[in-house]
Amino acid sequence: MLTLKLSIILVLLVSFSKGIKIFPTTRQNLIWYKSDNPNTYADYVNELDALMLNQQDRKSDWALCTSSNSYGFSLAYTGPCVFLSFPEKLQETPESYNSTTLPADAPGHLRNYIKSLEPRRIRETHNLAYITCYGAYPLDIENIGPIQFFRNIFIGILPYSAPTTFTKDVVAVYFEKPMRNIIINVECKIWAKFKTKQDLDNSVVAFDLLID
Ligand SMILES: *[C@@H]1O[C@H](CO)[C@@H](O)[C@H](O)[C@H]1NC(C)=O
Repeated sequence: MLTLKLSIILVLLVSFSKGIKIFPTTRQNLIWYKSDNPNTYADYVNELDALMLNQQDRKSDWALCTSSNSYGFSLAYTGPCVFLSFPEKLQETPESYNSTTLPADAPGHLRNYIKSLEPRRIRETHNLAYITCYGAYPLDIENIGPIQFFRNIFIGILPYSAPTTFTKDVVAVYFEKPMRNIIINVECKIWAKFKTKQDLDNSVVAFDLLID
């Protein structure tokens, strides 16, 4: 019953929110838990379990980010997995960045990644958008630690098609070793040259991560 309720709430959220979405959903954009106290992360895990119901066949793609690991929330030596879904619909198809046109404030790991694609795959990179998460401020960049992406490995093909299911269109973001006992401001963003303000606004989300 609880699961059913959660699903209904999520379906509503999904249909009203047009931008990138983060799961688990949060109160006041804060993901806050203690890995040694299941009560503090049960809601997060239940919500993700409800979303994963239809995707048993995909489990192997998610590495650590599975229900049996409580999506990383229960692990003392590592951080959680969060899931990002792409915006449902864009007003206009954006153009891709390449390593020279990418804005100066883009994270270094993204620039390096794009550079690594360019020598052999110039044509293909013309229609890619990239999704990354990173620390929002200098201190956060230090505290956030390494991040891994599963499934789409931070690439979306332009133009997007509207997501058909939750699981088909999400990226799992795994925080390998975030600093504990401190709030980390995390920003996640799709990098492409958006043509309207609304698309640009929908291409970025922020949340705070606090692991006690
Ligand atoms: C990136 O795009 C710009 C403008 O379209 C072009 O002038 C430049 O050569 C491209 N750089 C690479 C590395 O492809």
